[in-house]
Amino acid sequence: MTSPVVLRPEIAALPAYRQGRQAAPGGFKLSSNENPYEPLPGVLEAIGAQTAINRYPDATAAALRERLGARYGLEADQVLVGAGSVSLLQQFMVAAAGHGDEIVYPWRSFEAYPLQVAITGATSVQVPNRSDHSIDLVGLAAAVTERTRVVVVCTPNNPTGTVIDEAAFLRFMDAVPATMLVLLDEAYAEFTDRAEAVDGVPLLERFPNLVVLRTFSKAYGLAGLRIGYALGDAELLAAAQTAGIPLSVTAVAEAAAIASLDAEPELLTRVAEITARRDRLQRGLVEQGWPVPRSSSNFLWLPAGAATTDLAEALMDAGFVVRAFPPEGLRISVGEAESVDSLLRATASLVHLLPTGARTAG
Ligand SMILES: Cc1ncc(COP(=O)(O)O)c(C=O)c1O
Repeated sequence: MTSPVVLRPEIAALPAYRQGRQAAPGGFKLSSNENPYEPLPGVLEAIGAQTAINRYPDATAAALRERLGARYGLEADQVLVGAGSVSLLQQFMVAAAGHGDEIVYPWRSFEAYPLQVAITGATSVQVPNRSDHSIDLVGLAAAVTERTRVVVVCTPNNPTGTVIDEAAFLRFMDAVPATMLVLLDEAYAEFTDRAEAVDGVPLLERFPNLVVLRTFSKAYGLAGLRIGYALGDAELLAAAQTAGIPLSVTAVAEAAAIASLDAEPELLTRVAEITARRDRLQRGLVEQGWPVPRSSSNFLWLPAGAATTDLAEALMDAGFVVRAFPPEGLRISVGEAESVDSLLRATASLVHLLPTGARTAG
């Protein structure tokens, strides 16, 4: 660094944000867990009707909060809307933790968590996932100390796609202090089709220290408009709102979110298409010898170990942008229908990169 300005050392030490590359023409961008579909019916019209862009938006996004509250059987003040759930994660962390405190989370998980914890000034405590790539809830509870202010739990977990089962989550909630905030990040909840998977919403009444985070970026396909929401105790949500940047949710994003909620039947059709595509891709990869765990989200985890970087580069050459997390593995988002077969053709010719011992029987 050459700037003479004195910065907080923990911020200066953070790597600059680097967005994934775009796909080459004819290729596929499968690196950001985005939705491959055009906006849901009614969304573009709702956006177009937002002409008063010389005015600030409604700071509380009241119409959307009312709508979401009615949907989940909650009061509007038990809903907080933010500029993406990544923004809400940050707001809750900042509201609850600072220097001298600890924030516990699973690892590997969403790559934003360590950066966000660093921004609060708190200390990151990472709890390794289990050997089946699932989150270790017992380990998370055991990592809590009197300095822990927040535990983040991600289900389905990004990037491994595993879900937390309800019974295990209830044991976890009973084991941790009721004074400590638990953020349940359910960004991919709509893609979960496992009966045993926890759904945080019905648990909110029983655990006032629980907050559920959801987003319109993934299943609803509004990643570019930046809008997500939190559900939980009204006082907690008010604190998180105070910790946020005012007016960061635009009226355009709010209108698009409401129109997307109106398009529920089409949403369900698209989610079913994506999950069917995901399962077909997972079976195809396992048959080829890739040890890919079953996923409950819109992406797959390839634990490629030391071969991760070579594999990501080979896939890039074949026209697929994926997200590499060396030396553990890489994550492939489920994209356009036509990406599935061509991806399987590419992976068939690359499975030799995996050490023989790491392959499934196929
Ligand atoms: C686990 C998880 N949480 C939160 C987010 C943030 O989503 P957004 O800020 O677009 O709502 C993402 C995005 O990739 C994610 O993977």
